Amino acid sequence: MTSSRLILATSNEHKVSEIRTLLSCTGLEVEHLGDLRDAPELVEPHATFAENALEKALTVSRHTGELALADDSGLMVDALDGAPGVKSARYAGENASDGELVAKLLGDLDGVPEDERAARFVCVLVLTSAEGELGRWIGEVEGAIATEPRGDGGFGYDPVFWYPPARITFAQMTPSNKNAVSHRGRALRAFAADLPALLEDMAST
Ligand code: IMP
Repeated sequence: MTSSRLILATSNEHKVSEIRTLLSCTGLEVEHLGDLRDAPELVEPHATFAENALEKALTVSRHTGELALADDSGLMVDALDGAPGVKSARYAGENASDGELVAKLLGDLDGVPEDERAARFVCVLVLTSAEGELGRWIGEVEGAIATEPRGDGGFGYDPVFWYPPARITFAQMTPSNKNAVSHRGRALRAFAADLPALLEDMAST
């Protein structure tokens, strides 16, 4: 396949690593914000994952003139009316550590019984060129919030995201087992499947 360059509109090293692994079969040259000498500042001011992903990807495409892929993702907990949602990264304050995010979530769910702790991870990917949006892909995975952290893999809320089919948390999974079922894995496989046709369209216009 082609060696088109794609810039990931994120500097989250965990996301970059998962995305690179899942796109390794596409032949794309994948770079990220940290690889740019003058990276633009990315903001997430909107109420939906899709709007935030579009904003981030477009900012990078317009800045570089190249293809950009943004991942806006987060955790939605039923007992918290969908929070932390688009605010997942900032739920415990700006620059909160993963440990602080998990502690805040467990505190907010204190006393909520096991059968009322349903949650899902959501990932929206948006691909842009400098001219605008080229496509979007969504991945979700259903689970529940554990009562205490387990495992030391992954990142973010993984230690408390209980995945019922495997009876372990995402942080207890190997990276490849997480990628096989995760919101990001699902969205990226859909993106990779559509990519050849997208690149062909672009080459012919
Ligand atoms: P954003 O997309 O940069 O706004 O950040 C999303 C936030 O959601 C991350 O900082 C994590 O806290 C959380 N999150 C997204 N995906 C995952 C995941 O795969 N595992 C654990 N936490 C995640």
